[in-house]
Formats: sequence, C-alpha cells, structure tokens
Amino acid sequence: MPLKVAILYNDPPGEVIIPNGEEEAITGVLEEVVAVKKALLALGHGVEKIPLRPPLDTVPHALRNLNTDVIFNLFEGFEDQPHSEPVVARMMEEMGLPFTGNPSRVLDLTLDKAGFKAVLQEAGVDTPAFMVLTPANVQDFRLRFPCIVKPRDEDASHGLSPENVVSDMQQLKEQVVRISSRFRGCALVEEFIDGREFNASVLGNSVHELVEISEITYTLPPGLPRILTFESKWFEDTDYYKGTGVSCPAQIDASLRETITVAVLSSCRAAGCRGYARVDMRQDRDGGIKVLEVNANPDITPELGIARQAAARGMAYTELIQKIVDLALE
Ligand SMILES: Nc1ncnc2c1ncn2[C@@H]1O[C@H](COP(=O)(O)OP(=O)(O)OP(=O)(O)O)[C@@H](O)[C@H]1O
Ligand SMILES: [Mg+2]
Repeated sequence: MPLKVAILYNDPPGEVIIPNGEEEAITGVLEEVVAVKKALLALGHGVEKIPLRPPLDTVPHALRNLNTDVIFNLFEGFEDQPHSEPVVARMMEEMGLPFTGNPSRVLDLTLDKAGFKAVLQEAGVDTPAFMVLTPANVQDFRLRFPCIVKPRDEDASHGLSPENVVSDMQQLKEQVVRISSRFRGCALVEEFIDGREFNASVLGNSVHELVEISEITYTLPPGLPRILTFESKWFEDTDYYKGTGVSCPAQIDASLRETITVAVLSSCRAAGCRGYARVDMRQDRDGGIKVLEVNANPDITPELGIARQAAARGMAYTELIQKIVDLALE
C-alpha cells in the first residue's frame, strides 16, 4: 500500500563554519537522505523532506500539520547538542506521530554510554571495565592500562584519534583534561580491548533478528592503535581511512558466531530496541565478546553497516527500507 512518508533529517548548517572540522559527519546524513528517498519512491510511496535546523524550540512547528502516515527518522541531533536527538523523538511521540527506529527512551538511554554500560552489566552482557573520570578525580583511576578515553555521550567517533588510547598516568590525565573540556566536563575511560572488532545490526520490535555480522579489518602502519577514528570514517586521504576495511559476513566459526549473536540480542533486549539498531563490539584475549555500545540510530546509507549486512543475506536496500517502515507502523 502506498504511504505518505516524511523524511526527517539534519539540515547541514550551510555557510556556518564548524569549529571541530567535523562538517564531514554532518553532510554524511545527506547521502543517507538521498538514498532513503530514492528507495521509498521506488517502493511507490510519496516522500516529503523535513530538514531540521536549530534552535530546538522551532522543531514542533516543523512537525505540526504534517500530512503523513509515517516519519522516517534520520535526525541525529544538532551539532554539539547530542541530546536534541531523543528530545525530537519525544516531541514526535507527544504529537502522536509514528516514526521509524528507536523511541526517545532508547535513544536517551544509549546516548549516555556510561549509564548504558551499567544497564548492560545488569543484564549480564560483558562490556569493557570502565570509569567516568574528570580532571578533579583522575587520581581515582583503578583500571588496567592500556585504556581508551572517550566522550561520554557523543557518537560518530567524535573526538577519537590515536592519542585517546593511553598507556600511563601522564597520557591518561592529558586525555581526560582534553575530552572533559571539549565534551561536557567528564570522560569515559575504558580498558582497551585489542582483539578483533565486529558489529552486527538487528531488525525487530519486541523480538529482534540479527541481520548479519561484519568485521572491521585493520591494516595500519605500526604504532597506530587499531580503532575506528574520525578519520577512518570520513577522510579518504589518511592512513586510518586507507587501513580500515570491512568484511561482511565476518569470517568466523560457528562458536564465535553464537557468542556474538547472544551478545547482540541480549544488548538490544536490555536497551529495549525497536525498529533497527547496530551493536559494536570487540573480542578479548580469552575469546569472549565485549560490547562497546548500542547505536540506536545507526547509519543506513547503502553499502555501509546494516545495509551491507542486509545485502549479504540477500535483502535488497528497498526491502530493508520497507521493513523499517513496516516495523514503525506495527
Ligand atoms: N574499550 C575499547 N577497546 C578497544 N577499542 C575501542 C574501545 N572503545 C572504543 N574503541 C574503538 O573506538 C571506536 C569508536 O568507539 P565507540 O563505538 O564506543 O564510539 P562512537 O564514536 O560512538 O562510535 P559510532 O560512530 O559507532 O557511534 C570503536 O569502533 C573501536 O574501534
Ligand atoms: Mg561505535
């Protein structure tokens, strides 16, 4: 049945100069909008685009009087206001507008990485040991080096570079100071898990189905820690971009596949995910899987993440987009 679909997304701030040099991540969403729109049109649906720009209090106006059956939610939060992502989802909930993907509750929960790690632990899901540190309490550090220092509530590898991986107190302090001053006053410090890196997406509302597992493959020059940095995602001219690949489906044996599947489904159940989501994880020295995070609003650009995983099991991009819409209307 043809539907009227409104695509909600971040309107890139045009002429505005972004201080962190991170405009690449912001324009990335446009590629996604074009692809989703094309797929929806190919499926016979009507499409309207709803670009959002700050300030947040103008968003209800943009949402009011929409003549639509469902909103395709690609809104990732305004630059430097990560919490605007769940806030906009809550606005749609309060207005009774059905939308794709995760509800505000899940977007909110998973945005706070430290808070959500506690939820994972509670649910029996293994996640790297961690502490939330500030310049004032960095002396309380009780983890084992090496560690990785990350913003507590940002995504798209904002602020991640090789220096974030630290192996002594001096480096730790520097990074806690740097991350804290740039991202809301504190830093999430985790033990660094150096094994293979995987991610897997799920589809489903109350019952989740794992789509496929990808492995991130690293061939980096010596001395560069194997992590997905901001560069590996967005800057083609760098060692990180050139030295980072994806293998999908991951080449793994049945037992590792089972371990990953259990970790992914347990994480999504613990989060209460609806629609679609992607879980990032790493293998530790003992062969176990440690969950790094659940992305409740993951990239759905063709050939990446969930779209690539869907393709690996024979699901066309249009089929994936229709499935996501169907789950929203369920
Ligand atoms: N504890 C850890 N041990 C090893 N590597 C890690 C750890 N935490 C993060 N990383 C590396 O850093 C990358 C980014 O970390 P993470 O997924 O937590 O943050 P993100 O920036 O929110 O990512 P995304 O863009 O997927 O939302 C991971 O893909 C992984 O390569
Ligand atoms: Mg991640």
